Amino acid sequence: MAASAPGKLILFGEHAVVFGEPALCTAINLRAEVFVRPYKEWRADGGALDEPRYRDVKGAVEKAKARAPMWVEVRAMVPSGAGLGSSAAVTVATLGALHGIAGGLDPPTIAREAFEVEHEVQGRASPIDTSTAAAGGALLVLREPREDLLWTIERDTRRWCLHRARLPDLEFVIGNTGISAATGPLVAKVKDRVERDPRAADMVREIGRITLEGLAALQRRDLVQAGRLMDRDHALLTELGVGHEMLDRLVAAARPSSYGAKLTGAGGGGSIVALTDRPDETVGAIRAAGGKAFVVRPDSAGVTKQP
Ligand code: MEV
Repeated sequence: MAASAPGKLILFGEHAVVFGEPALCTAINLRAEVFVRPYKEWRADGGALDEPRYRDVKGAVEKAKARAPMWVEVRAMVPSGAGLGSSAAVTVATLGALHGIAGGLDPPTIAREAFEVEHEVQGRASPIDTSTAAAGGALLVLREPREDLLWTIERDTRRWCLHRARLPDLEFVIGNTGISAATGPLVAKVKDRVERDPRAADMVREIGRITLEGLAALQRRDLVQAGRLMDRDHALLTELGVGHEMLDRLVAAARPSSYGAKLTGAGGGGSIVALTDRPDETVGAIRAAGGKAFVVRPDSAGVTKQP
């Protein structure tokens, strides 16, 4: 039995979404595949499940309460530590394979379980990455339910309502710094700032407003305005302490051939996303600045059983 799940690209709202602000995310055509087969003991790619790099797989195995041990094999096209949702994709694909072997595969259940795993592994988090990997396509996260609600996830005093969002057909250029940064400490850093500094809390709210304006701009194909909002979002995230000089360098390299560019995901390293209709030029500029660059497209398929 095998299942796959997509990586993700946050267009607007990372970090602010942890505080319940809106965020916009799309699944991308870089997927993680997980194969499972009954075996005499638990194995991950032939090794022990306890190795730190399999913590998402182990978390998913514990959550799925699999009765018999399995040999688990992980293949991920999503680069890890790049802000593109590789751990969420691996967690969701593992849950998909384990649920698939036992029968059905229900994306809302997998989204909830994967969020719990991510919370246990990473610490404080929002369900944006895991729900996007489970649902595929574009998702808008809001505090209140509206039309096109997919599911709601609650934790402590927070509630996230995950909605289907419709975006025009767009491609995005990713610039990966190659610097891997763990999400948990970055989320904790922003929480600390917000608790200590009311200006940081204002920035988080501004990011929430930018998300809704950015979605509207993308939907009416006003790429100039969407790009401006991306640039402002990047500045706010940097002010919140999750930037990196290499992210600034890649953003600066991408902007002359783009409508806008910003860090995507947790920051501190990881990747930028550029909105451009000259992708070859943007890819070239990011590479010349020392980043890895590639084009991604939205992927409408969420967690999927493999034949
Ligand atoms: C990470 O991809 C997105 C963050 O907002 C964390 C989260 O929502 O769990 C930084």
